[in-house]
Amino acid sequence: MELVVKNIKTLAQVEEKIRKIVSGEEIKSVPTIENAWMHIKNGIIENFGEMKDFPSELSNIEEVDATDRIVLPAWVDSHTHLVFAGTRESEFVDKINGLSYAEIARRGGGILNSAKRLQETSDDDLFEQTLVRANQIMSMGTGTVEIKSGYGLTVKDEIKMLRVAKRIGEETPLNVKTTFLGAHAVPKGMNKEDYLDLVIKEMIPQVAEEKLAEYCDVFCEEGFFSEDETERVLLAASEYGLKPKVHANQLNFSGGVQVGVKCGAISVDHLESSGDEEIEVLKGSNTIPTLLPGAAFFIRTSYPPARDMIEAGLPVCLATDFNPGSSPTGNMNFMMSLACVQMRMTPEEAINASTINAAAALEMSEKVGSIAKGKQADFIITNEIPSLDFIPYNYAQNHIHKLFLKGQKVIQ
Ligand code: NIG
Ligand code: FE
Repeated sequence: MELVVKNIKTLAQVEEKIRKIVSGEEIKSVPTIENAWMHIKNGIIENFGEMKDFPSELSNIEEVDATDRIVLPAWVDSHTHLVFAGTRESEFVDKINGLSYAEIARRGGGILNSAKRLQETSDDDLFEQTLVRANQIMSMGTGTVEIKSGYGLTVKDEIKMLRVAKRIGEETPLNVKTTFLGAHAVPKGMNKEDYLDLVIKEMIPQVAEEKLAEYCDVFCEEGFFSEDETERVLLAASEYGLKPKVHANQLNFSGGVQVGVKCGAISVDHLESSGDEEIEVLKGSNTIPTLLPGAAFFIRTSYPPARDMIEAGLPVCLATDFNPGSSPTGNMNFMMSLACVQMRMTPEEAINASTINAAAALEMSEKVGSIAKGKQADFIITNEIPSLDFIPYNYAQNHIHKLFLKGQKVIQ
């Protein structure tokens, strides 16, 4: 399989040498080549350059014309709960009528509502429901997605969720990474200590045994899991080779950032309630701050202080948090618009946060997140748009014309 994309107006996020992550001055710009070509062979980016230097030996292979179009790496969505059963629009209405996310959760709604639905749903039905969303996110330019468990809350159902997530990776062109989030909420009728015991002694060993997840996440939040409980779960998971991530500081200053950094988390995600202390802790670490502006938008919390984080030199990452309660969309384009409008990130910072840094948050820098020789040919061809900045500017529109994953056309 061989293909050449020609007459590309702008080839964006090009790298001669693969950078693992961008921060400081580097996060502020996206390297581009104007009037470019790109050669794909066996699903890999073989080479690229300016049209004026187009190699004549590539003249006879299949061509895709990208006149007036921008080509850039497929989005990497490093935090989702893509596997869920049913939806929760009645809670959406409750929130409009004045209930808070925490109040809905205390009344048995929220995560427990989704858990009940998921437990009643068969593996195949759950897969079919998830497949619809997998196709949706590809149509909006996502090529790589992280998927968490956390709506099972029993051994059997957590395993069911992760198997479905893995199947999405096997049966669609998406690159999928999976995360075990058993410590998402305490199931109804169970005491927390007993549930933590189940998570640590049964779920983690089984997830590891079946190699169902690479990461372990905990919802570190008032009313959910404390700092100490988070640490216990993450340490137990580490012993089984599951690397830590944390849902930190979504609704309160939960200490989730501190415990994440202490445990060597790959990323701490959310961070709506963060200040100088959290930024200082992150500065001294390799933990990536992943911001989920869709959740702040949808449940009306404050937004994370992205500007302060970027000015402090942190490698900010963006993701959708696609889930039925706090962010029912997998649209990375809209996340970038929210990041620009609500968090004052520039379009180029938002693109870096959704490609290179997002790949780093999934330890996939060698494969995805930029246009670099040897990386997987996962790329977007946009509609005819005037500039890169136009993508977040013309918000809530889909500017994706084509998506290629591993060199194969996925949408057209
Ligand atoms: O990332 N905050 C915890 N978990 C999800 C929401 C879960 C839900 O409401 O179903 C989140 O926002
Ligand atoms: Fe989440």
